[in-house]
Amino acid sequence: MARKKIALIGGGQIGGVLAQLIAQKQLGDVVLFDIVEDLPQGKTLDIAEASRVDGFDVSVTGTNNYKDIEGADFVIITAGLPRKPGMSRDDLLVTNAKIMKTVAENVKQYAPNSTVLVISNPLDAMVTLCQKVTGFPHNRVLGQAGVLDSSRFATFIAWELGVSVKDVNAMVMGGHGDTMVPIVRYANVNGIPAMELLERKYNDKAKAKEVMDAMVNRTKMAGGEVVKLLKTGSAFYSPASSAIAMTEAILFDEKRILPTCAYLNGEFGIKGYYVGVPAVLGSNGVERVLEFALDGEEKAALDNSVKAVQGLVADMERLGF
Ligand code: APR
Repeated sequence: MARKKIALIGGGQIGGVLAQLIAQKQLGDVVLFDIVEDLPQGKTLDIAEASRVDGFDVSVTGTNNYKDIEGADFVIITAGLPRKPGMSRDDLLVTNAKIMKTVAENVKQYAPNSTVLVISNPLDAMVTLCQKVTGFPHNRVLGQAGVLDSSRFATFIAWELGVSVKDVNAMVMGGHGDTMVPIVRYANVNGIPAMELLERKYNDKAKAKEVMDAMVNRTKMAGGEVVKLLKTGSAFYSPASSAIAMTEAILFDEKRILPTCAYLNGEFGIKGYYVGVPAVLGSNGVERVLEFALDGEEKAALDNSVKAVQGLVADMERLGF
């Protein structure tokens, strides 16, 4: 079986870590594209020169020419500006929409049969634009946000309860912005509700709720917390790892249930928008959205988040994208 060809559009912080992880895991041959001359060539040379040490023999090359992504099976897009301290993801809309338009046109031309995973922010709007410009079926254009937001939520719960994060399941739905919706009711430690464990820890329901609320808020603001510390860019290790989990699910037809920015056609009462929901990821990309009953509060929070996504998409359309 021929190796998969994986094109990475954007050779910045996330793109570089993606290239290294794909090589180390031998998921396929990597082509790293960036508009900055020599940058993708330099990064991939550096990564390739570790091949003997890491023990991989996939090829890792860099380019400034879109033609080199020709025939890619899988494309991950990180092209675009990251946030600076004080900026929201939405502040990136105009700049990154311009970039996404060009990127998507080239993906359409050179990798017409690929599945495309978008990471650039504002995520929900960028995925929407990418699908619109490529014209690819909705199941082949998806976005990474929920895997990371959920991992952040799970990490905070693990720290708080003093348990291995491997045993924590926590899911975040909705748009990838301040309105995202961590689903507290289903957060659990190996099946045991996280709320119950918190109530037992503090022996006080009000205190447990206060602690959970703080973790929910930290999750929503977690991207900004990293931006504030880094000062010159946004999170890049964790977004790259999260995208790799989604890539593996699709390349290996794993049918994993991952929170995915997926196109909704009536699921959760939402039609015609890309929003974060649990989805089955396999060789056909987003194979199915897993719907489940939300309680009143969760539904209201999700609707509020969808409103924010709709606002962004409307702004983008008003700007001519
Ligand atoms: N085509 C291709 N690449 C581009 C283009 C373009 N038109 N414009 C900019 N780039 C490249 C930049 O040269 C840079 O190398 O995109 C890369 C982005 O890398 P970083 O600035 O390091 O940003 P990164 O941290 O990787 O984040 C990328 O993901 O999480 C989001 O908000 C984040 O939108 C940002 C994106």
